[in-house]
Amino acid sequence: MIYPVLTAEEAAQFVKNGMNVGVSGFTAPGCPKKVPAAIAAKARREHEEGREFKVNIFSGASTNDPTDGELSRAQALNYRTPYQSLGELRNHINAGEVHYNDRHLSELAQEFRYGYYGKMDVAIVEVQSITDDGELLLGTAVGNTPTWLQVAEKVIIEINDQLPDTIRGLHDIYVPLDPPARREIPIYRASDRAGKPTAHVDPKKVLGVVRTSEPLGLVSKFTPVDDVTRKIGENVCDFLVNEMRQGRMPKSFLPIQSGVGNIANAVLDALEHSDEIPPFEMYTEVVQDSVLKLLESGHCKFASTCSMTFSREAMMEFFSKPELHDKLLMRPSEISNNPEVIRRIGVVSMNTAIEADLFGNINSSHVSGTRLMNGIGGSGDFTRNAYTSIFLCPSIKKDDCISTIVPMVSHVDHTGHSVDIIVTDQGVADLRFKDPIQGAEEIIEHAAHPVYRPLLREYLKLCKKNGHILMNHDIALAFHSTLGKTGDMRKTDFAQILEKLA
Ligand code: COA
Repeated sequence: MIYPVLTAEEAAQFVKNGMNVGVSGFTAPGCPKKVPAAIAAKARREHEEGREFKVNIFSGASTNDPTDGELSRAQALNYRTPYQSLGELRNHINAGEVHYNDRHLSELAQEFRYGYYGKMDVAIVEVQSITDDGELLLGTAVGNTPTWLQVAEKVIIEINDQLPDTIRGLHDIYVPLDPPARREIPIYRASDRAGKPTAHVDPKKVLGVVRTSEPLGLVSKFTPVDDVTRKIGENVCDFLVNEMRQGRMPKSFLPIQSGVGNIANAVLDALEHSDEIPPFEMYTEVVQDSVLKLLESGHCKFASTCSMTFSREAMMEFFSKPELHDKLLMRPSEISNNPEVIRRIGVVSMNTAIEADLFGNINSSHVSGTRLMNGIGGSGDFTRNAYTSIFLCPSIKKDDCISTIVPMVSHVDHTGHSVDIIVTDQGVADLRFKDPIQGAEEIIEHAAHPVYRPLLREYLKLCKKNGHILMNHDIALAFHSTLGKTGDMRKTDFAQILEKLA
């Protein structure tokens, strides 16, 4: 090998205060594991000696504890984009200590190539192997790595010896040309390969290689399906079956995108157990353990993803079954979440909302409109371009104290224009072929919890009909202000608020 072998500490010395640093991976899989922690240790030493040390981190999506955890604990993060999901970093962001920019995941790579962020000083990339001429076999996620390898001035490689040789062939590396030279992305089915099995870096940019031996698949397992998530899953399934019966969905079905978490798992579980849903393909950004089960049973014929977000057991199982390897491809986020491809192949999107309002607007990212939870992730990439876009959430949270259906969302991530269907444990609100007022009535009767329906109906009555959308500016956020004051949205008293204002 022509590249110098470095310790993580030696590699970290190349990273200086104020640098733009790109990291490989998408969710925890594929992220570098040793060098970010060594950068955090360096930051601590610099701080102890009274020197400023913070970096800007550009990732594929959320990362792992050595990256977002260690760097935020060391107060070493200045700017972070495009997505995160780690409690400690969330706290630093909400305290105003880290500049966080919540971006669509499909866009960051091209935005960097367009020059929006200046130069990328260093990229830190986990790989299975690297050849002397710069061919890289990546790990269990792709993220924005192919673009970071292009734009970074210098590259640090982590070779993880836990990554098996059998990962070869699971990547589809395609980086589009930038406008005005861009052509169509040649993906016409979820299983089409558009690019190469390896990524490339100019060997002259490689500062060195750090050898690691880090376990794969350190993703927490999800809690089992419960009554509420089971009901949501069944409602989605019934809706999709009816779409096929009505001829709005081809009988052969369409590729699905499914978000992360317990609700997404419950939906996949319901699809697996339906007699009427035929085997389907997935065009999605992460595959969790539930997708492995579907690939094994044949319910999922193929999964296009950006990351194998498997638990350790699922990861081991996948690599021990070569017959599954031609049923999965990992692509860059720019491709796994690509609007052009999503629109072309007709992806049915399913994402989880924090709250939805009576006019179909969705808040995915900010609790009570101010506190960042995670970020928009890929939900916007898929929702805006989907064949049918579906949002999922339980109708109530924290016992009955929070209604996820509110008069007006406290923060907007997806506008009603892009939202077709809202599914809760209560039922399916279909917003298609309805005006905003008809849509509001549909949401109250089919998605809201019965405890909150009278309050939501009262809100609509208290809105003057003075335009296309019903709105009462004085009480539109009364659910949230009441929650803030009393901890219970049920205590919302519209009449009292209006009386005080009169
Ligand atoms: N009002 C107030 N608080 C709320 C709330 C609401 N409407 N909805 C959720 N919360 C609180 C919960 O009580 C919980 O707080 P706690 O941690 O103190 O208990 C917290 O917010 C998280 O809620 P939870 O129900 O556990 O979230 P989840 O695990 O089901 O995730 C999202 C829901 C929306 C946060 C998550 O799906 C997400 O980050 N989505 C955006 C990214 C995305 O869509 N990616 C998809 C492409 S893969």
